Amino acid sequence: MSSFDIDLESKLHELQQAALEAFSTAANLAALDTLRVQFLGKRGQLTALLKGVGQLSAEQRPLFGKKVNTVKAVLATCLEQTQVLLHQKEEEAAIQAQRVDVTLEGRSQYVGQMHPLQIGLDEISGIFASMGFEIAHGPEIEDEFHNFDALNIPPEHPARAMHDTFFVKSDEKRVLRTHTSPVQIRSMLAGEPPLAIVAPGRVYRCDYDVTHSPMFHQVEVFLVDKDVNMAQLKGVLSQFLSIFFGKKVPLRMRPSYFPFTEPSAEVDIGCVFCDGKGCRVCKDTGWLEVLGSGMIHPNVLRSADIDPEVYSGFAFGLGVERMVMLKYGIPDLRLFFENDVRFLQEVGR
Ligand code: PHE
Repeated sequence: MSSFDIDLESKLHELQQAALEAFSTAANLAALDTLRVQFLGKRGQLTALLKGVGQLSAEQRPLFGKKVNTVKAVLATCLEQTQVLLHQKEEEAAIQAQRVDVTLEGRSQYVGQMHPLQIGLDEISGIFASMGFEIAHGPEIEDEFHNFDALNIPPEHPARAMHDTFFVKSDEKRVLRTHTSPVQIRSMLAGEPPLAIVAPGRVYRCDYDVTHSPMFHQVEVFLVDKDVNMAQLKGVLSQFLSIFFGKKVPLRMRPSYFPFTEPSAEVDIGCVFCDGKGCRVCKDTGWLEVLGSGMIHPNVLRSADIDPEVYSGFAFGLGVERMVMLKYGIPDLRLFFENDVRFLQEVGR
């Protein structure tokens, strides 16, 4: 062999040593792949060396080719083994990185819950539903017919001012309903007596102070059938109150006025805080005013195509905020709307 061949051969040997050394010290798979390209790639060092083959004699060429193939095979084996090793190493590192310390204390989840008013609404509706009343809903944006006219509240009636209503800008006059009583009209027009309905929902008035919010909740309850009377009204009410407060609650009815009931009565319950003895909440009277009620006015029945000569009905509307405040001893109405989770979590635990 000429010195030129020896040179080529030693270069090949050097290359093999360098490649083996580099492969075995590669830090990771990506680095190893760069080395593979560098030594064995199309434009790599081994290809460059092969270019020298042209200068060899015809007999020497296949011999050198064989040597190159051997080097290739050695390097390929080394590459493969290193790949396996590095792969294992990287997998282990990934597992270590994801290791969970099972001895750490768990993080507790924040569990939401229903708003106290929703709890109250459901509770109240549920009690009436258990007594056979059917749950009904009406729109919060009402027309004047259902909110006022059909409820015997004529255009000039002071009640329209009394309610201090939010009017909605629209072609037909619409209002944010000032009470749940319009559901009486909607239910009566949609169905035939006997009708026993409980209608929970939001209502709106332009009030805002310590005891009033512009949006609040009511539950309307009414019964229309033959021979409905006030004794039944009182019976249903006292049963509801004792279930809701979980104790027998005394009840009294005072004559009052609503355009849509005749006669009308304001209902007071014995103060649930002092059992009627007199305290700050009941202003020492022993009584708390909780709702308005009465026998449905014949004009209201007529507006809803029901013959008042044949049918009669009772109705009452109770304020949900007030009921929930009394039941859970909540001192300030505004707490319901401030959305302080500490308060919201108190009720219904
Ligand atoms: N709608 C009345 C109010 O909002 C309450 C009521 C309902 C009174 C039914 C009598 C009968 O004040």
